[in-house]
Amino acid sequence: MQRITKTVEVDLGDRSYPIHIGAGLLDDPELYTRHICGRQVLVVSNEVVAPLYLERVTTALSGFQCEAVVLPDGEKFKTLEVWQGVFDALLRHRFSRQCTIVALGGGVVGDMAGFAAASYQRGINFIQVPTTLLAQVDSSVGGKTGVNHPLGKNMIGAFHQPLCVIADTETLNTLDDRQLSAGVAEVIKYGLINDPEFFAWLEDNISLLLARDPEALAFAIERSCIDKANVVAADELEVGQRALLNLGHTFGHAIETGMGYGEWLHGEAVAAGICMAARFSVVQGWMNSKDERRIIDLVDRSQLPTKPPGALQAEKIMELMAVDKKVLDGRLRLVLLQGIGKSVVTDRFDLGQLRNTLNSY
Ligand code: NAD
Ligand code: GLY
Repeated sequence: MQRITKTVEVDLGDRSYPIHIGAGLLDDPELYTRHICGRQVLVVSNEVVAPLYLERVTTALSGFQCEAVVLPDGEKFKTLEVWQGVFDALLRHRFSRQCTIVALGGGVVGDMAGFAAASYQRGINFIQVPTTLLAQVDSSVGGKTGVNHPLGKNMIGAFHQPLCVIADTETLNTLDDRQLSAGVAEVIKYGLINDPEFFAWLEDNISLLLARDPEALAFAIERSCIDKANVVAADELEVGQRALLNLGHTFGHAIETGMGYGEWLHGEAVAAGICMAARFSVVQGWMNSKDERRIIDLVDRSQLPTKPPGALQAEKIMELMAVDKKVLDGRLRLVLLQGIGKSVVTDRFDLGQLRNTLNSY
């Protein structure tokens, strides 16, 4: 892969941080050392990513007391019990409050390691080294960390921003096609929320992206990070417009929880959720069906599902959607679309119409 390095800044005052995007960044000791204050570093990874990249990262960190903890792989292990293992490692190695956690992996590792950093001795530093497309464009940026509960996705967690994000695009070469497509779902999301030009670019370049063309990948990751960084800078703690980043997620989380964590990939559930939000927006008379067609076409061309799983009944989806962080005073809120690049968070819809829309699948 040719070397393309870009840096996007997440502007949060004295907690601002850079997202470094490029090929071969994983090995660069300077990218780590300029951010780490103490001498102790714990790399948190998982059993799939560690054999691929852990040694390169620990070598880059050889100037520190560097230890590692390797978690089991998969969404079904994003639990409080597995999370506990990170503290066992921190305490076993007598790590102090000056230590730093490095999260090496996809969104599951990043969310769990970040939540451990938010909690250990009431908060320590951490660095995100995302290795999936989904993590490079979304989960490593913005400071949302946490674990799942059997009754609801990401229901336990904290906001805790990293010191920096090191997104090595070369790591995407070992990702399988299904996981790459899952990441594209979150990329499409940014175009729909407020970046219609990016959506149009994706329509023209989706084949290049799926073929892992280095320039197309670097552009899509940078643009996604810019879009996300802008929203996070304006509303870090999601009191307002940050909720727009959850387009497709209320439907998607219901699919993930309903099917059993890990059955549908997060990005696949979000893709179907985006199409469901588009369908309901048309039913509400807020968006025209030509825009809905463009959305479904792009999702389909990205090798992603455009409908919820047949095994999940409408009533079950309704029940699961009621356990969502956007529910306010008992009222469900959804991110809906007024067009491509025009999204709103709203509770102004009829639940009966929502049920009918779900039943129509
Ligand atoms: P994941 O972390 O499960 O990674 C997907 C799979 O790819 C795993 O099997 C993993 O081990 C493997 N993998 C990772 N990097 C690899 C590489 N370079 N080569 C080969 N295999 C590799 O899933 P994900 O899609 O990265 O993340 C999904 C998670 O992110 C969900 O739990 C979701 O809730 C969370 N998320 C969080 C935020 C946030 O803002 N914090 C945003 C979006 C999603
Ligand atoms: N992925 C949603 C957010 O970061 O707010």
